[in-house]
Amino acid sequence: MKLRKAVFPVAGMGTRFLPATKANPKEMLPIVDKPLIQYAAEEAIAAGIKELIFVTSSSKRAIEDHFDKNYEMEDRLERAGKEKLLKIVREVLPEGVSCAYVRQPEALGLGHAVLCAMPVVGNEPFAVILADDLIDGGNKPCLTQMAEMFHEHQCSVLGVQNVARDETDKYGICKAISLAENLGRVEGIVEKPAPSVAPSTLAVVGRYILTPRIFELLETTGRGAGGEIQLTDAIARLLQEEQVLAYQFSGKRFDCGGKLGYLQATVEYALKHDELKSAFEKYLRGLSID
Ligand code: UTP
Repeated sequence: MKLRKAVFPVAGMGTRFLPATKANPKEMLPIVDKPLIQYAAEEAIAAGIKELIFVTSSSKRAIEDHFDKNYEMEDRLERAGKEKLLKIVREVLPEGVSCAYVRQPEALGLGHAVLCAMPVVGNEPFAVILADDLIDGGNKPCLTQMAEMFHEHQCSVLGVQNVARDETDKYGICKAISLAENLGRVEGIVEKPAPSVAPSTLAVVGRYILTPRIFELLETTGRGAGGEIQLTDAIARLLQEEQVLAYQFSGKRFDCGGKLGYLQATVEYALKHDELKSAFEKYLRGLSID
């Protein structure tokens, strides 16, 4: 099995970021100068993925426009001889990579959003990336690490990270049997368990590689935690039939769906940004003296 497609569920309401997300998708919020969704697309492309599938809703037009060609802007930049900016604009969607858009008519949950992508994904494995979980994997992006595990083991792989016990009720939490240093076989998974009953502190953080069997299971998965159709509940059924691995990727993850994580990512990415880092570091040092 080869991994060629990635699904980006971007149909959520983004209530934690209101009012910024009233008319704008949270995935278009920039970290320094690039929207979150572009970081996610770049991560997929780095892992060898050629087809990007966005599950959108009515208020997400800006995402389609972002990955579309902007003739007028390109023309203006070209005429003005602004080669560097022209390259930035053109490279938003590299050659050979295509985009498809599917509507999720109602925000019925992440599982339902993934199911909406079924007609476009078809009968092959695919990645799911939640763009608001921004992961700085350093030299090897998170999905590239996971794709290596997938190609070796030929089964579903979940990107996991240990979280504080008092935060288990924000995540899908796995119970896994260790197979290697960073790899476990998932024995159970539960959505948003209370800290007192969570089977572990190993949380799935916005990266999945799934076999197409998940679609059939999602079709018969009822509403779960929060009244939503949960991807976690379908994965709990998948692992009864197939091996599912939990992979502790290396890298730093920022929860950019929340204000604090978003600000932390902004500061850390600005401190690494070629154009900004020295001036921004100077500014921060000045602040800490006061
Ligand atoms: P979140 O739990 O972060 O929900 O969804 P949200 O609505 O986006 O944000 P808050 O919590 O209200 O601030 C996890 C991911 O699943 C997608 C979201 O876009 C996000 O990437 N999602 C969620 C959908 O695409 N459709 C849904 O019905 C629910």
